[in-house]
Amino acid sequence: MSAPNKSYDPVEVSALQPDELDGARDAALAAIAGAADLDALKQVRLAHAGDRSPLALANREIGALPPQARAEAGKRIGAARGAVSTALKERQAELEAKRDQRVLVEESVDVTLPWDRAPKGARHPLTTLQERMVDVFVSMGFEVAEGPEVEAEWFNFDALNFTPDHPARSMQDTFFVESEESGLVLRTHTSPMQIRSLLSRDLPVYVVGPGRTFRTDELDATHAPVFHQLEGLAVDEGLTMADLRGGIDAFVAGMFGEGLTVRMRPSYFPFTEPSAEVDMQCFVCRGASVEPGADPCRTCGSEGWIEIGGCGMVNPRVLVACGVDPERYSGWAFGLGVERTLMFRHGVEDMHDMVEGDTRFTLPFGMEI
Ligand code: DAH
Repeated sequence: MSAPNKSYDPVEVSALQPDELDGARDAALAAIAGAADLDALKQVRLAHAGDRSPLALANREIGALPPQARAEAGKRIGAARGAVSTALKERQAELEAKRDQRVLVEESVDVTLPWDRAPKGARHPLTTLQERMVDVFVSMGFEVAEGPEVEAEWFNFDALNFTPDHPARSMQDTFFVESEESGLVLRTHTSPMQIRSLLSRDLPVYVVGPGRTFRTDELDATHAPVFHQLEGLAVDEGLTMADLRGGIDAFVAGMFGEGLTVRMRPSYFPFTEPSAEVDMQCFVCRGASVEPGADPCRTCGSEGWIEIGGCGMVNPRVLVACGVDPERYSGWAFGLGVERTLMFRHGVEDMHDMVEGDTRFTLPFGMEI
């Protein structure tokens, strides 16, 4: 505020001059009229009616006038501020009405829309297939084992006879749980359930362990970073490879029907010795597509055989790690890929279909009881 103005020279208090006041008022009225929405009007109110607006500043100058000039100046300012405040109120009401109108339209609910047309979900074929695979073994007397998806490295690798520098560790591209020293991984296979079963159950052990497994693969037509396996383990006195063979034969018969031959090819896994890859005779062409001139078979790629998984006799080192006497007990184990099985059993050609959750893919598989 200026010092008292004894001589009342209106030039010195130019903010109080009629021209200035009219100018400030007109500028305010124009800005108010031009405010397109409530936010803009808020800014206009601040600029033209706020504490630091020209009219508010002029109002403060009244105190600096000689008493005889104050009444007239006060009247003029009052009128200007009154006009601005009325205009603000009117514009505010206008803009609020506009907004309410818009909200009524934008947020309206069409109560006549049907509410009962949510598409029905479906059980995922991976789930039903996995249950069916498990059931084949349950019908032979196996129990269902479980294990965590976030698994200790010891269960996932060490106890399964992967030494720290074992090349087989890098066969499986592992998701480590931070930090790398945590000792935790997302299990790369269902085989750690073998260890958990042997440590927690009484012998003999006959279990199948279905579950989700993880590897650092990119999603493409034949790979996914998250997939499913079915683990099997039998540990008892006197088990031999003939029992392993019998178990696999019974599984193939249970899933694909009687009369299909199973063959084993030597392979390597650290937790089985000997180890094998298992092929079954193609359940569609039954090997006929291999003959010269025969129709090609899409299911086996005219190979006549379909690879279904890995298996072997439990490595005695695994038994020892679980406190089982390998002189008295022996065992066999296998691992099957559920996605792979869905692909060849049902002709699913692209892994993407299995992960996208589109009911146009899942519904046609129907229900299995
Ligand atoms: N764990 C193996 C894998 O993910 C599969 C496997 C092979 C499991 C042989 C077994 C087995 O139990 O005996 O590649």
